[in-house]
Amino acid sequence: MTVEDFRRGAAAAVVAGAGGVEIHGASGCLVHQFLADSTNRRTDGYGGSFESRIRFAVEVAAAVADEIGAERTGLRISPGNPCNDIAESDTAELYPALLRALGPLGLAYLHVMPAGEEELLGTVRGLWPTTLVLNRGGTGLPVRVKDIDNGTADLVCVGALALANPDLVERLRDGAPLNTPDPATFYGGGAVGYTDYPTHTG
Ligand SMILES: Cc1cc2nc3c(=O)[nH]c(=O)nc-3n(C[C@H](O)[C@H](O)[C@H](O)COP(=O)(O)O)c2cc1C
Repeated sequence: MTVEDFRRGAAAAVVAGAGGVEIHGASGCLVHQFLADSTNRRTDGYGGSFESRIRFAVEVAAAVADEIGAERTGLRISPGNPCNDIAESDTAELYPALLRALGPLGLAYLHVMPAGEEELLGTVRGLWPTTLVLNRGGTGLPVRVKDIDNGTADLVCVGALALANPDLVERLRDGAPLNTPDPATFYGGGAVGYTDYPTHTG
């Protein structure tokens, strides 16, 4: 069944050299489609109540953690985020239930893409027992760092700037200027815009 596809995919990623696997339970991906009441129209044990809608996500996380180790398994969620036309009407019940069910698995981290609902984010933070990675995509780095300073997150994620700066860590450490990402080259399918940004030292 599909849960086993996630298990096999995780195993294959590790064989290929990946240090870990992040299960995509956000932005309308399959796991999210099970969670959201706008997309999950099932009438079996995987649909209906929020207790049933979290089941697929928990089974996938358990299978992947069993296969490659919980310490190498992360999960991404986007509670209440309408990305890709997802609509969720019961996030206040669903996500706490999901996090309580996932807690005993001891996953390495939870990656959260919030939708501006700071109260829900606070609930998620309070319920999650391991590392919380916060994704405030599109905001400036100072906004993101503030989330670490005030305890909202343990780590923050950086996408486009990491793509455009192959030496991002060194640049931030040294206070060097950053390359500006070029959105025209995103999702291009080739090397341009992915492997050709210069390092600070040339
Ligand atoms: C070139 C590019 C491709 C991306 N592709 C995906 C994707 O396929 N699925 C996804 O969920 N997020 C994707 N993202 C979003 C990132 O996972 C991450 O959420 C985002 O880059 C964080 O925001 P930031 O770029 O402002 O740091 C992509 C981002 C970039 C820059």
